[in-house]
Amino acid sequence: MQAASDRSRLEEIIARFAGIDGATLPVLHAIQDDFGHIPEAAIQMIADAENRSRAEIHGVVSFYHDFRAVPAGRRVIKLCRAEACQSMGGEAIAARIAAHLGLEFGETARDGSITLENIYCLGLCATAPAALVDGKPVGRLTEARAERLLREVAP
Ligand code: FES
Repeated sequence: MQAASDRSRLEEIIARFAGIDGATLPVLHAIQDDFGHIPEAAIQMIADAENRSRAEIHGVVSFYHDFRAVPAGRRVIKLCRAEACQSMGGEAIAARIAAHLGLEFGETARDGSITLENIYCLGLCATAPAALVDGKPVGRLTEARAERLLREVAP
């Protein structure tokens, strides 16, 4: 991280939540909104501000899939890998999309164009298999719809 200016941005965000009970998640969301990810230094800074251990804050960050250690690509595809979507053929579609992009789940293309991620139940089980594309829900994915989607996001 760029030392001084990033550090002062982090201090300013953390200070906004000082003294608030249950501030860990809101502060992490605010940092991710600002930086696009959770910089490594933020974990210790939050721990210090909340009088908690670094391991506790790290545990929160790693528990929630939405928090990123590095910035995401310009486009983000999140495919649901939970049971309803699996049972509706989601795994074959997930494998096809990963192969098309040449990415493993959790990876970002080297040129920063796209990130492929897992997500576990979007609450769209009735329209499984489901995905989020740049935050927008996409349901009833079929191989044909996935192909169209890929032509749009990764031509
Ligand atoms: S299991 Fe995929 S949306 Fe619920």
